[in-house]
Amino acid sequence: MPSHQFCVHTLFVFKVTLWLFVIKGLNCALTISLRGPSLVNATVGSNVTLGVTILGAPHPVVTWKMGSLPVVTWNLGSTDAPSISPMNQDVLKIEADGSLVFKNVPLVYSNTYTLEVVKVGMETALTKFLLKVYDYIYNVSVSATPVDAVEGTATFSLQYSSVPGEADQWRWYFNSVEIQNSSHYTVNQKSLVISQPNRTDTGLYTLVLANPFSAVTSHRNITVLYGPDEPVLEVSPSQAFFVSGESLSLSCQAVGIPLPSASWMFGGQTLVSQEGCLNLTDVQTNQGGVYTCEVLNRNTGVHRRKNLTLNVYERPKGEPLCLVYATSGIYDLQFHCQWQGGTPEAWLSFPALNSTAGGAGELILTTPASQDLNGRTVVCRASHPLHQSQCNVTACGPANFLPKVTTMEQNGQIVVCIQCYSPAMPSSIVTWSKGSELLASGTQYQINKDTTQLSIFNFNSSTAPLHTYTCNCGNPLGNTSKYIQLLGPTISNFHVFPNGDGSAVTITWEIPPTSVITGFDIQMRGPSLLAKHVRRRKRANDNFRSIQQEPGTSRSTNISALDSKSTYYFRVIPFAGETLGLPSVVLRLGPVLSQPQVIGLAAGIPCGVLFILLLVGFICLCVYCSRRKRDANRYPVARAVEKVVSTQTHINTPSCLLTGGIKDLPDYNRKITQGGPTERCAPLPRFVYPPPVRTATIV
Ligand SMILES: *[C@@H]1O[C@H](CO)[C@@H](O)[C@H](O)[C@H]1NC(C)=O
Ligand SMILES: *[C@@H]1O[C@H](CO)[C@@H](O)[C@H](O)[C@H]1NC(C)=O
Ligand SMILES: *[C@@H]1O[C@H](CO)[C@@H](O)[C@H](O)[C@H]1NC(C)=O
Ligand SMILES: *[C@@H]1O[C@H](CO)[C@@H](O)[C@H](O)[C@H]1NC(C)=O
Ligand SMILES: *[C@@H]1O[C@H](CO)[C@@H](O)[C@H](O)[C@H]1NC(C)=O
Ligand SMILES: *[C@@H]1O[C@H](CO)[C@@H](O)[C@H](O)[C@H]1NC(C)=O
Ligand SMILES: *[C@@H]1O[C@H](CO)[C@@H](O)[C@H](O)[C@H]1NC(C)=O
Ligand SMILES: *[C@@H]1O[C@H](CO)[C@@H](O)[C@H](O)[C@H]1NC(C)=O
Repeated sequence: MPSHQFCVHTLFVFKVTLWLFVIKGLNCALTISLRGPSLVNATVGSNVTLGVTILGAPHPVVTWKMGSLPVVTWNLGSTDAPSISPMNQDVLKIEADGSLVFKNVPLVYSNTYTLEVVKVGMETALTKFLLKVYDYIYNVSVSATPVDAVEGTATFSLQYSSVPGEADQWRWYFNSVEIQNSSHYTVNQKSLVISQPNRTDTGLYTLVLANPFSAVTSHRNITVLYGPDEPVLEVSPSQAFFVSGESLSLSCQAVGIPLPSASWMFGGQTLVSQEGCLNLTDVQTNQGGVYTCEVLNRNTGVHRRKNLTLNVYERPKGEPLCLVYATSGIYDLQFHCQWQGGTPEAWLSFPALNSTAGGAGELILTTPASQDLNGRTVVCRASHPLHQSQCNVTACGPANFLPKVTTMEQNGQIVVCIQCYSPAMPSSIVTWSKGSELLASGTQYQINKDTTQLSIFNFNSSTAPLHTYTCNCGNPLGNTSKYIQLLGPTISNFHVFPNGDGSAVTITWEIPPTSVITGFDIQMRGPSLLAKHVRRRKRANDNFRSIQQEPGTSRSTNISALDSKSTYYFRVIPFAGETLGLPSVVLRLGPVLSQPQVIGLAAGIPCGVLFILLLVGFICLCVYCSRRKRDANRYPVARAVEKVVSTQTHINTPSCLLTGGIKDLPDYNRKITQGGPTERCAPLPRFVYPPPVRTATIV
């Protein structure tokens, strides 16, 4: 078995040889080692070397590729010139060790470079370089699109441009805070996009561009335009309303960029204002109303308007006026309340009549005329912002009253006016009737406008007692009637008042209220009136004679220049046109003796008693005679008149004249010492002459 042993021995030798071969083969592989980093940054125009050391085999084939494009090929260490593409010959060179050299490298040579080393029978070696050629960054400018950022628009973007450089870093900052991608910002290589820009985006934007050789910072202030916002309107002084004549100013301010302009408008006209400030001096009510302020952003054209209401008030003139009327329906009352002229008009109400109804300036309430309202004071409340006031009115039915008769003479005719005025609210309407005949204005009768007076024309005063009238005063709250019986000329009350020393008297008289009278004849019996300086006493005149005529309105007269030592008789005869009335009672003025004096005389002089009795007898005779004489002067007297006179004279019985005379003591003394009484009834104490009833009937 030596051959088996040989085989085993041979296999062992082969194995060793193969082992050695493997080891030897490893030692012969191509290697490329880098002399620097594989990433090379270079500035444009500089000389750059991509340095390598190639080991493992002599004269391998070296190929440099720019990207995938071969640019330099060379059989390393050979004498043949390297093959360089013509385009790159100015820039590229290959060194003896295979390193690639760039001369004055331009920007476009930024690229990936691959070195391939190939040797036949050997594995190909590869290595890669990244060359970045940079320029210095300068002339960076940031521009905006659109030029103005406006709040509320969709987007706003900032772009930059730089010449010529290429940056490999770009950062945006807003007010020094770096901007990151978000819903609001989008950061791209060349731009910053802001979506929905708003006023808070106003500020300083900073762009930082950088590459390994330079860094440039660029700033730009961006103002986002906005507004005008809702304007703020103010009145100064701040008050709810102004009184006409006051002064005030209105201001209008709105926020916005640029600052909005503000202008005021009133009643369709633009007013002169300064920066939204409008001064109003001595403001009038017609300046009250709606003022509109318009604010405008001149850059964006956006404008807004806002209203302000200015209240200018004025107090109504005077005071409220309350009235009540009867409606034509007679059965309703109309309560009026007026207070006009204010701004605004005063608010009026009659709370007692209707708690809800009211009116501005004027209020009319119609209500049925119930007796509940008769005499009740109804108040109208008037309320105005500047003044509260009230008025009242009291409705009442016709009150009791006395008819009044007046007589006039017109062109020789007698006109009798009857007045029926009954105080009432609303004023009453008077209807007139004669008997059952309703009177209307015509030729004989005339009723004046307010119906309170009836005029009877062409009145025949001798038939006066035939005239009987009725007046009826009525308003919605009731009515009152009066019956008027006219009387002929009549005197109802007659007085004579001596004054001072007895040289003058005042005569007064009255007439019944329905008597028709146009004048009075004042008559006197006695000595003639004295001339001023003559003290001679005249003889008495036995007949009454007229001494004065007084108009129908007169109720008194004075008679002077009397002789204080004489006795006078006075009477008054009323008349209506041609018709004479019954004379008044006759009153005497003259010396009389008081009772004590008479008693004294009688006691002191016994024979004087006889004298006194004789004297009384004489006087009675005189009176009797004089009455007979006057019988001729009888006046026609209506029954009614006679009655009036009788009653009046009864009332008249205690004559004021004589009590006055008695008190006048010095006068009587004088009369006695001066030779006693004249033919008159002087000596009787408390003598009333003549007893009125008798006088009337006798006359
Ligand atoms: C680059 O190399 C060229 C010649 O190889 C030389 O003239 C030039 O000065 C060099 N440039 C720089 C910046 O060193
Ligand atoms: C850079 O800007 C300046 C001035 O703006 C200008 O003079 C210069 O020519 C610009 N340079 C380039 C390379 O555009
Ligand atoms: C921001 O987002 C945009 C697109 O959404 C993208 O192109 C850009 O690279 C992003 N920028 C940063 C800094 O992430
Ligand atoms: C931006 O605005 C600020 C403040 O108004 C000012 O100080 C700064 O100089 C401005 N910058 C530029 C680049 O306009
Ligand atoms: C309004 O009045 C104020 C102060 O009384 C004054 O300062 C302002 O100039 C006035 N404005 C106008 C528009 O007259
Ligand atoms: C403001 O007032 C004017 C005129 O009175 C009116 O036409 C307008 O509707 C008002 N505007 C507002 C917002 O009330
Ligand atoms: C009614 O008005 C008068 C005058 O205006 C006033 O004196 C009186 O007090 C008023 N009466 C009532 C009840 O208000
Ligand atoms: C007045 O009436 C009387 C009596 O009826 C009569 O006699 C007289 O003529 C009348 N007078 C006039 C002016 O009518």
